Amino acid sequence: MVVVAKKWVLKKNFIGEPKDDDLVLEEEQLPALKDGDVLFEALWLSVDPYMRPYSNNLKAPVDMIGQQLARVVESKDGRYPIGSRYLGDFGWRTHTIFNPKAMEGVKGTYGKDLVIPCPDLAGNPESYSLGCLGMPGATAYFGLLKVCDPKPGDTVLVNAAAGAVGSMVGQIAKIKGCKTIGYAGTEQKVKWLKEIGYDFAFNYKTEDVSATLSKAAPEGINCYFDNASSEHEGVGGDFSNTVITKHMSIGGRIAICGAISSYNATAPPMGPELYGTMIFKQLKMQGFIVYQYYSEYHAAVKELAQWIKEGKIQVCEDVTDGFANMRSGFYGLLKGKNTGKAVIKA
Ligand SMILES: NC(=O)c1ccc[n+]([C@@H]2O[C@H](COP(=O)([O-])OP(=O)(O)OC[C@H]3O[C@@H](n4cnc5c(N)ncnc54)[C@H](OP(=O)(O)O)[C@@H]3O)[C@@H](O)[C@H]2O)c1
Repeated sequence: MVVVAKKWVLKKNFIGEPKDDDLVLEEEQLPALKDGDVLFEALWLSVDPYMRPYSNNLKAPVDMIGQQLARVVESKDGRYPIGSRYLGDFGWRTHTIFNPKAMEGVKGTYGKDLVIPCPDLAGNPESYSLGCLGMPGATAYFGLLKVCDPKPGDTVLVNAAAGAVGSMVGQIAKIKGCKTIGYAGTEQKVKWLKEIGYDFAFNYKTEDVSATLSKAAPEGINCYFDNASSEHEGVGGDFSNTVITKHMSIGGRIAICGAISSYNATAPPMGPELYGTMIFKQLKMQGFIVYQYYSEYHAAVKELAQWIKEGKIQVCEDVTDGFANMRSGFYGLLKGKNTGKAVIKA
């Protein structure tokens, strides 16, 4: 069968805010399958903040990077039957030929396999494999439970709280008996955060971060799950500086998950002004990458799926319909347009 794949190509490395002509939709005729080849067709594709900084580590022109949920449509490897579902690091493309045998032993960052069978989603929608039951869900799970190490009764603060990772962090923290405070960039997101069980939620673009925190957490913050710094401006100044220098409890833990606020920056972010507070309050701050816990990935997804099934976690997806609209789904994410996980329906 002759297959013409569509793919997004990064024509120019991003400078500042991504522009339309940085990413261009192209077609590519695929060859006939050779022995051992498997042809995958994208069902759902993920757009994630990491694509902005990571794609700039590559030299354009280059095919855009990313993960997708794909199904096998033709196979010359008996282990990959037609119709079976896989999570593949195939990039932004509709069709991909992959030869599992030839690629055996080739790993992604932190030993992650390039193609993994779609995990058991316990009856949840397939797209969840890219969100709450995929990389972002596992990020929330590991970042909160392993880095922040919350105890029942602790107060947990999350920014970009209505996004894929942040919405999961708050709900897992509630399961663990914590008080939760979320910050997001629109009134509609703040309303949703309260609906999914955040004890307090505020709009960092319209409300003073320090004043709201003094009210919501006079006892201080034990765990700060930082999705957005380093130079995340809220009302009253830089978000992390405000939180760390004024509101952390003694012995608090800070998980540095992401720095989306600086991904489009053209100048390097600021330096370590926080060290004094870190010392006096004996704080622990740790950066992490989800795949450093890859050996526990499937166990984490299993537990998350169970919590969703039991109604302990609610999920919201921000679906962009159509592969041709993938670029606008991604650019929207960098402007805060998504509530919950941003996914593309191929
Ligand atoms: N360490 C890891 O292994 C790992 C894994 C996955 C994700 N991450 C990181 O975790 C963070 C959240 O990822 P996600 O997938 O859950 O994305 P997301 O929160 O679903 O979407 C991004 C959100 O970030 C906020 N945002 C966008 N531009 C911003 C800016 N300039 N300043 C401040 N906030 C901005 C927006 O929310 P508001 O409307 O609330 O501003 C937007 O909706 C990102 O920094 C990402 O890189 C890290």
